[in-house]
Amino acid sequence: MRLDKFLAQSDLGMRKRVRDYVKDGCVKVNGEVIWEPAIEINESSDVIEYLGKVIVYTGKVYYMFNKPAGCVTARKDAVNKTVFDYFDNENMNGIFHVGRLDKDTEGLLLLTNDGEFERKLMDPQNHVEKTYFFWALGSLDKEDIKQLEQGISLGKGKIQTAPSKIEVQKNGLYKEFEQEMASENLCNINQNYYNLPAVSGYLTISEGRNHQVKRMLKAVGCYVLYLKRVSIGALKLDDSLERGQYRHLALSEDECNEV
Ligand code: URA
Repeated sequence: MRLDKFLAQSDLGMRKRVRDYVKDGCVKVNGEVIWEPAIEINESSDVIEYLGKVIVYTGKVYYMFNKPAGCVTARKDAVNKTVFDYFDNENMNGIFHVGRLDKDTEGLLLLTNDGEFERKLMDPQNHVEKTYFFWALGSLDKEDIKQLEQGISLGKGKIQTAPSKIEVQKNGLYKEFEQEMASENLCNINQNYYNLPAVSGYLTISEGRNHQVKRMLKAVGCYVLYLKRVSIGALKLDDSLERGQYRHLALSEDECNEV
C-alpha cells in the first residue's frame, strides 16, 4: 500500500496533510526518513513512525449515517450543525463523507477513509444507483413518468439527465398525506396547500448533480416538500437507525466492490 494512504488511514489526517508530513521529513519507515509520500510499504511488516511515534494502522473504516434534516454535509459550518457533530465519540481524522445531501434532505449518508470506495460510488461512469423517497406538491401522470424515466432537461443550460427509475407510491391531495407523514418531517407546511394535489414515491438516479431529485421533479411540475435517501447501490439505510444515528459498516473487500 502507498505510504500516504497508510498514514491517512491511520488517524493521522487527510491525504493532503499526511503528504506534507512526509515531505517535511516527519515520517520514518523502518528507521529511515522517507521523503516520498507515494512509496509502497508493507502495512503488516514495516514499522512506520511519525515524529518518533510508531503508527498503528486503523485500516479502512465505513459508517452508515441516517442524516437528519437541518444538518449540513460539511466538516465545519459557522451556523449549522454538521454531519461530523454527530460523531463526537469517534476519531474522525481522515474520514470524509461520500457525496452530499442537501441540508433539508434526510437519510443514508456514508462516511469513510477509503478513497477508492468513494470514487467508485461517486464516479458517474459507474452508474451507481441512489434511491430517494420523495413527497411533493403536484402530480405525476404517465407523460411525466415517461420523461423522468427517459431523462429530462434541467435548468438554463438544458442539461439532460440520464434515464431514471420512478415508482409512484400515491397521487392524492395534500391533506390526504397528513396522516402518513410525521409533521416534523415536513418543511413548508402550509394549510393553504390542503386541497392541492400531492404525490409520493421513489426516484432512482445514477448521477449526482446538484439538487438533482428536486430539479428533476420540478421540471415535471412537482415541488419537493420532503426528501430522504434510502439506498446507495446495494446498501440500504438501516431501518433501526434513528435520525442522527450511525453505525459501523463492516464491509469486506468483495462487498465494497459489489456496492
Ligand atoms: N437530490 C436533491 O435534490 N437533494 C439531495 O440532497 C440529494 C439528491
